[in-house]
Order: sequence, then C-alpha cells, then structure tokens
Amino acid sequence: MMMMMMMMMVIIIRSLTRLRFLRFGNPALEELRRGDLAGVRQLDQLEVYGNNLKRYDPGSLGDLWPLGVVTLHLRGPFQDNLTLVSSILHDVCYPETFLVVVDVLLTETNSVAPFSETNQRRVRSIMFQNATLTDEAIVHFLEVCHVHRPAVQMQDLNLTSFSQKENNHAATRNVN
Ligand SMILES: *[C@@H]1O[C@H](CO)[C@@H](O)[C@H](O)[C@H]1NC(C)=O
Ligand SMILES: *[C@@H]1O[C@H](CO)[C@@H](O)[C@H](O)[C@H]1NC(C)=O
Ligand SMILES: *[C@@H]1O[C@H](CO)[C@@H](O)[C@H](O)[C@H]1NC(C)=O
Repeated sequence: MMMMMMMMMVIIIRSLTRLRFLRFGNPALEELRRGDLAGVRQLDQLEVYGNNLKRYDPGSLGDLWPLGVVTLHLRGPFQDNLTLVSSILHDVCYPETFLVVVDVLLTETNSVAPFSETNQRRVRSIMFQNATLTDEAIVHFLEVCHVHRPAVQMQDLNLTSFSQKENNHAATRNVN
C-alpha cells in the first residue's frame, strides 16, 4: 500500500514537472535563432507571437516536446514568407499537437501550402482563430491535408468567397 502511494506520488510529481507553458514574442520579434530557447526542452504548451517575424533558423523550436498545444500568431510570415512558416510548422508539430493558427489572412491558394508540413507530421487537430479564408484557400487546404485529414475547428472565421472577391474587384473597377 505504502509502496503504491509512493509510486503514485512519483508519477504525479513527474507529470507536474512536465507541465510547462511558454508564451513569447511581440510585434518587435523579427528573428528566431537556434539557441534562443537553449535549455528549454519539455513543454506542454507553446504560444509564439511572431506576426512580424522575418527570419527563422530551422530547428530553433525543434527541441521542444511534447507540445500538446501550439498557438501561432504568424500573420506577416503567412503573407511574406511561406518557407519560414513551413519551417516553423515542421519544428513544432507532432501527431498529438493541437495546433491553433491565429489572426491569419489566407486568401491566396498558395497561402495554405505550409499545411503540407502538418500533414506530413500527421497533426490530427487544427484550429483557425480569427482567420480570414477564401473558399478557394479552404479547398486547397483540404487537398494539401488529404492524407491525414485533421479535425478542423474554426473560431471567428471570416469566410470570403473567391467569386465575391472577383465581384468586389469588378465593382471597384466599375467605380474607377
Ligand atoms: C524566408 O525565411 C527564410 C528563413 O528565415 C529565409 O532564409 C529566407 O531568406 C526568407 N525569404 C525571404 C524572401 O525573406
Ligand atoms: C484579428 O486579426 C486581425 C488581423 O487579421 C487583427 O487586426 C485583429 O486585431 C484580430 N482580432 C483580435 C480580436 O485579435
Ligand atoms: C473579411 O475578409 C475580407 C476579404 O479579405 C476583408 O475585406 C474584410 O475586411 C474581412 N473582415 C474582417 C472582419 O476581418
């Protein structure tokens, strides 16, 4: 009985020391280099504010594990550098990771291309929060994720139809 209680305590303490949450970044964060998070290994939750991130050394977030929840604010990179986005997704995604992608504007078909990385990493749950997606981008997203189709949740989604976008352009042209 005593032995069993001790074993339980050990298990509980181990799981507490594993319970780690790291949130970092801000509008001024422009680069992430290998070694920036030196010493951090076990993490259950990670949140990165990298809306203006311009450089990312592959692997910089690659040593963190098990990453049950990863929240990414990568508005700028999703618009300017999809290679950088792919590189980050490659480093932070595991099959058990619940990936939350916040504040993005995914209007071009190509803008969802980095999700081929989450597909390769067999991520099972993805949530878009406060995102704008065109129907075209959603169709392409589903194509990109066709192998290990993840559960997808949408919160505060702005859904814009491609044809509507075209009409808006047409309307603008008419005004001019
Ligand atoms: C995109 O990001 C990668 C990784 O930081 C970098 O090597 C590359 O030069 C960037 N590309 C552009 C066009 O900024
Ligand atoms: C939602 O995202 C837009 C940019 O796409 C941002 O300007 C806005 O502040 C975000 N809203 C919230 C509530 O975070
Ligand atoms: C929704 O998306 C459209 C097209 O990108 C944009 O014009 C509009 O401002 C967005 N609305 C919100 C509330 O983000």
